[in-house]
Amino acid sequence: MDSCKLQIEYPSKASMLEQNEEWFHLTTDEGQQRIRIHEYDRVYDVPGLYEEVVYNKLQCDSPQVITGLLKEAMEVHGEKDSALRVLDFGAGNGIVGEYLQEAVDTEAIVGVDIIDEAKKAVDRDRPDIYDDYYVMDLSIPDDKEMQALDRWNFNALITVAALGFGDIPTQAFINAFNLVENNSWIVFNIKDRFLGDADDSGYNQTMREMIGQSLNVHRKHHYCHRLSMAGEPLHYYAIVGRKENNF
Ligand SMILES: C[S@@+](CC[C@H](N)C(=O)[O-])C[C@H]1O[C@@H](n2cnc3c(N)ncnc32)[C@H](O)[C@@H]1O
Repeated sequence: MDSCKLQIEYPSKASMLEQNEEWFHLTTDEGQQRIRIHEYDRVYDVPGLYEEVVYNKLQCDSPQVITGLLKEAMEVHGEKDSALRVLDFGAGNGIVGEYLQEAVDTEAIVGVDIIDEAKKAVDRDRPDIYDDYYVMDLSIPDDKEMQALDRWNFNALITVAALGFGDIPTQAFINAFNLVENNSWIVFNIKDRFLGDADDSGYNQTMREMIGQSLNVHRKHHYCHRLSMAGEPLHYYAIVGRKENNF
C-alpha cells in the first residue's frame, strides 16, 4: 500500500462538521471526488486511503489503545497466556485484528462487518489476520449466520470505532454480546457523548442496563480517539469488562 501516492485535499480547518459528515477530496486519473470518511465502501475500495486519512492525518489511536487495555486487563487477571477466540465486530479493513494479533495470544480472530467492501479490503490488504470474516447484519441475523458464529465459542468481543453514528445499532451490539460465552472479555469504545444524558443513539440507556445486569466493567478510560478535520480532539470512552450473562 503506497499511500504517499494518494492525492488528498482536506477542507479548511474552519469547517466544523459532525464526525460522520467530515469529508475530503481524492484526486485520481478519473478526476476529483468528494468522499465522506463514513462512506466506508468508497474509502476501503482505495488501498491505503483509510489508513492515510484516519490514522496518519487524523491520528486515530483507538486500535492500539483498546487492544493495549485488553492486554493490560488480562495481565492483571493472571491471564497473560490464555488464548482468546475473538469476535471483532465492525472489523472494517482489519486494523484492529492486526493490533490484536500483536497484543495478545489468540487462538482465532473472526471479523464481522456489514459491507462487502470491508471483507474485500481485508482479503486484499491483510489476508493473514482473520481466521474467518463474515459480511452480515447482526441486528437481524438469521439462524444460519448465528450458528456459523456460535461454533467459534468466542471468549472475547472487540468493537472499535463502530458504535453509534448510524453504524452498529444497539440491537446488533446486544446480539454480538449474547453470542460470546459468559466470562468473555468485552472491549469497545464509544464517543463520550453517547454515554451521556443528551445521547440520542440509544447507547446510554442500553449501556446503563447492560452494566447493571450483564456486564461487569473493569476499566472505563476517557481518551482522544482521533482529531476532527478541524484539528480538535474527539473524546471517547474505552470500556473493558467481562460478560456475566446474556442481556
Ligand atoms: C470507523 S469503521 C471502524 C473499523 C475498524 N473497527 C477500525 O477501528 O479500523 C466502522 C466500521 O463499522 C462497520 N459497520 C457499520 N455498521 C455496521 C453494522 N450494523 N454491523 C457491522 N458493522 C458495521 C462499517 O462498515 C465500518 O467498517
